[in-house]
Amino acid sequence: MELDLTGKVAVVTGAAHRVGRAIALELAGRGMNVLVHYNSTAPEETVRDIRALGVAAEAQQADVSTAQGVEAVFGAVMRHFGRLDVLVNSASVFPAGRLDETSLETWQNALDVNLTGPMLCTQAGASLMRQNEGEGGCIVNICDVGVSRPWAARAAHGVSKSALWMLTQTAAVTYAPEIRVNAVMPGPVLAPPGMSEARWAQIGQDLTLLGRAGAAEDVARAVGYLVREDFITGALLPVNGGEHLKW
Ligand SMILES: NC(=O)c1ccc[n+]([C@@H]2O[C@H](COP(=O)([O-])OP(=O)(O)OC[C@H]3O[C@@H](n4cnc5c(N)ncnc54)[C@H](OP(=O)(O)O)[C@@H]3O)[C@@H](O)[C@H]2O)c1
Repeated sequence: MELDLTGKVAVVTGAAHRVGRAIALELAGRGMNVLVHYNSTAPEETVRDIRALGVAAEAQQADVSTAQGVEAVFGAVMRHFGRLDVLVNSASVFPAGRLDETSLETWQNALDVNLTGPMLCTQAGASLMRQNEGEGGCIVNICDVGVSRPWAARAAHGVSKSALWMLTQTAAVTYAPEIRVNAVMPGPVLAPPGMSEARWAQIGQDLTLLGRAGAAEDVARAVGYLVREDFITGALLPVNGGEHLKW
């Protein structure tokens, strides 16, 4: 069954800009009120653009790799909206470096932000969704190609995202049947800041079967699909032009 999201409430982490912002706007466009989580990027423009769609939006700053930060996010959603239906874990770090050159600090930060943060948010969010009297909720984790194969050049990142996929499956088993938990595996959808258009086009061509980069909105629509479709849990949806099959 396709769920009607009108009037429901979402938390999107890392939603002030880039892919997280596109996800927040997608859910808002489907009638959801949104708590825009941010860490260091000003969220005002995203909040304004969401409100322009006719739904409510509020912002909350937090470091989601800490228990206090996660408490702040879920305290804010209850204070502003009084319920939670959807959580999207998009906040992430993207450290470069092979395993043999990765410092303990880099390793721990990747696991803290990319894995422990979503774990803490899942625990906090799911306990609120369980209060939704028979309606439950939905969690979507944003992984990447590190799920499907070793990523030698970004060892800490790849391992953290691979573990995020296992967290997704573990949470799907733990919280069924009230709460569905799924993941998206984006490919190249938005260039890192400062990268030239030509270089980005080349990456899209080299990495994907389709020979081109995607867009943040491709990921956002996939998240919207997983949130709406009520018979899908424990799924990993590649939105990557076939990158996971191109070695
Ligand atoms: N861009 C792509 O092509 C691509 C490809 C594959 C997968 N993905 C995945 O898609 C998601 C979004 O990608 P993106 O390119 O938009 O990422 P991004 O530009 O690196 O943004 C990451 C977000 O994470 C937040 N963040 C980082 N550390 C944090 C912390 N300690 N606490 C709370 N928030 C923190 C940042 O918040 P502030 O800016 O507010 O500090 C930022 O909004 C990520 O999970 C990424 O791995 C992206």
